Amino acid sequence: MTGNSTIAVHADREVHPSRAVARPIYQTAAFGAEDGERFAQVAVERRGHDFYTRYGNPNHAQVAAVVAELEHTETAMVTASGMAALTTAVLALVSAGDHVIGQKSTYGGTASVLMNLLPRLGVETTLVDQTDVHAFEKALTSRTRLILVESPSNPLLQVTDLPAVAELARAHGVLTLADNTFATPVNQQPVAFGIDLVWHSATKYLNGHSDVSAGVLAGPAELLDRIWDVGVLTGAVLGPIDAWLLLRGLRTLPLRMERHNANGQALAEALNEHPAVTRLHYPGLETHPQHLLAKSQLSGFGGVLAVELADGFEAADAFLGRLRYARRSASLGGVESLAVHPASMWRGMLSDEQIADSGVPLGLVRLAAGTEDTADLVADVLNAVEALDR
Ligand SMILES: Cc1ncc(COP(=O)(O)O)c(C=O)c1O
Repeated sequence: MTGNSTIAVHADREVHPSRAVARPIYQTAAFGAEDGERFAQVAVERRGHDFYTRYGNPNHAQVAAVVAELEHTETAMVTASGMAALTTAVLALVSAGDHVIGQKSTYGGTASVLMNLLPRLGVETTLVDQTDVHAFEKALTSRTRLILVESPSNPLLQVTDLPAVAELARAHGVLTLADNTFATPVNQQPVAFGIDLVWHSATKYLNGHSDVSAGVLAGPAELLDRIWDVGVLTGAVLGPIDAWLLLRGLRTLPLRMERHNANGQALAEALNEHPAVTRLHYPGLETHPQHLLAKSQLSGFGGVLAVELADGFEAADAFLGRLRYARRSASLGGVESLAVHPASMWRGMLSDEQIADSGVPLGLVRLAAGTEDTADLVADVLNAVEALDR
């Protein structure tokens, strides 16, 4: 079987081939055709790449070829952001009167789609505890069309039993869509466990350099065709230059993930025993309550960990202020370490009660380890946490 690093460098070779070693940027809104017959052909081709850039562009198709091969799916498509991938898929797959199941621990944008957008469109939703497979089963109704899973989840790094949820969904004729942003296809391929479709915030690890907003959907052609039909109407199209940058980022994804995995594990181990830390959430730790499940699904545990500090809100804020390398930022997955204290980020948006309802403790910090040297990052977090004790 071809390795991930080889796939990342070569999977797009036959897509719009040219003699240039690096892919040219097709900075064009539209393409011409040789004759009327060819024009009529490209005008109706789904996920084609030489008709009109909102329908597709060679730079999109090259990214899609790499992601599809890494995710082991038949095909893929790109969108202007991760949220565009999710909303396009959901609009294509459910209608008023349908029911969707999601997780309580999930990225905030996904939670808002489930709690606000879908109910407004007449789609009922139920949010369940992802650590309990029976909760998914209990939530099923005769109108359930889709289950959204995210594993490991943001920001609590909870794990979903993907084979069990996929089996349950298939038995009831329900589609499954997994957010694979935290794991990436290098660490986990959800379709290998029976999940139907995968989406990513490609803004994170897939691009890996914090300089592009993008999304990707991967799955079988039959489902991607339905989603693409809606995508050309929602028009959340990725610019060709951004697609080109994303392809360049993908070339090194497997290499970068090796370092992210090593750094995430080292930071988790270094902080886990510290007296100023009450709880450390990282699926690669043997003390993580779902470690065995995580090990059965993930070949690496990624660069993101969540640290709960004993002295709550103030300690978390002070810890972030003392870090030398990880900057305060809402993103993750780039070569540079980033850190966020959700409770202080949400202070202007949510009441104390809403923050408490989110299940995210006031003293929780999400650390996203970059690709810096492991020893430097470990020394930096220990220095910051030790300063809290004094
Ligand atoms: C796990 C996860 N999924 C989806 C998204 C949304 O992606 P984007 O910001 O590219 O729209 C994010 C963004 O932070 C995320 O962390």
